[in-house]
Amino acid sequence: MKLAPALLEEWMRTYYFAADFDIGSSGVENFSIAQLRELLGFSLQDLDSLVLMDSETLGGAGVRQAVADHLVGGRTDHVMVTHGSTEANFLIMQGLLEPGDEVLVLDPIYQQLSGVAAAMGCTLRSWPLRWENRWRPDFAELEELLGERTRMVVVNFPHNPTGVSITQDEQRRLIAAVDRVGAYLVWDGAFARLPLDGRAPLPEPLDYPRAVSMGTMSKAYGLPGLRVGWCLAAPAVLERFIRIRDYLTLHLSPLVEIVAQKALEKADVLLRLRLEQAGRNLDLVARWIDERAGRVEWVRPWGGVSAFVRFEPGVEVEELCHRLAREERVLLVPGNCFGHPDHARLGFGGPSSVLQEGLDRLARRLDTAGPKES
Ligand SMILES: Cc1ncc(COP(=O)(O)O)c(C=O)c1O
Repeated sequence: MKLAPALLEEWMRTYYFAADFDIGSSGVENFSIAQLRELLGFSLQDLDSLVLMDSETLGGAGVRQAVADHLVGGRTDHVMVTHGSTEANFLIMQGLLEPGDEVLVLDPIYQQLSGVAAAMGCTLRSWPLRWENRWRPDFAELEELLGERTRMVVVNFPHNPTGVSITQDEQRRLIAAVDRVGAYLVWDGAFARLPLDGRAPLPEPLDYPRAVSMGTMSKAYGLPGLRVGWCLAAPAVLERFIRIRDYLTLHLSPLVEIVAQKALEKADVLLRLRLEQAGRNLDLVARWIDERAGRVEWVRPWGGVSAFVRFEPGVEVEELCHRLAREERVLLVPGNCFGHPDHARLGFGGPSSVLQEGLDRLARRLDTAGPKES
């Protein structure tokens, strides 16, 4: 299996730790242990009785129950707790696909969602999101792309990097279309709990027996360093993933599981804080873009905390992003990490002051990087 370089991760490895003004990440402001203790009401003594023994393959009983209560009405048999959704994705692809299988993937997409299947020798087909359609998926096109050979369909809504999403009716149409060909439907709901502008989150898990959903504490919950995610699927499907995990990670650490459990048991406290911040920041970005009409364009995101902004022709976006990182300590992600070199991913989940300063610095650079200067 030959995995292609993960372009976004390579960019982050180079610049994430060197940046003071992060306006490129796709998550919200992260929480410290002290903040968690205060917000969730637990003390360090609560950890004293924890024995650092092995945990269970599908996740320790406490954290598995917490995920189930938060998302699937308490049905633990449908839950596997994973090392972030990255591990869930790997298990899903390895567990459900064979070389040569046809996989239909939203495009652009977070690279790992297509990259594992590609490395396994599957045949990938794209379901394109287009700027000209305001990134909105075309369901008639989906129906044409699906066929008897389609083994799996992979989507992510709200979507990284565009922030676009679908309506409940469209979610039903998606399920019906995938059902007609009997394929698996892999639903990456990393940003499910970050609906913007008063929208309601889409129903999850999906009402479809061959659906496999992924989620994560890395985005809306502000806890990417925990490395906790999950996979929701029928028990027989989870059984396949167990066999692979036996060779990969065995189980999570009980230390990580207890923190994740506490956070999930009072998830609404964390989510409310970050959703409010995302709403304020979204307005701030909207004003910034309005002031640059014609030079920077976007489609206002429906969910998540990233937008995929487009710069006027002549702006060398990757070069601009390198200079921003090296000379201004600003992290912005060039669109070539998603196959769209004239765009950039602008993340607005962080503290508003950091976002404002990052945008100010970007504005100054744009004034010198644009076509007028070149
Ligand atoms: C859409 C999407 N899915 C999955 C992931 C993986 O996140 P994690 O492994 O931290 O859960 C990311 C990270 O950026 C993402 O954007």
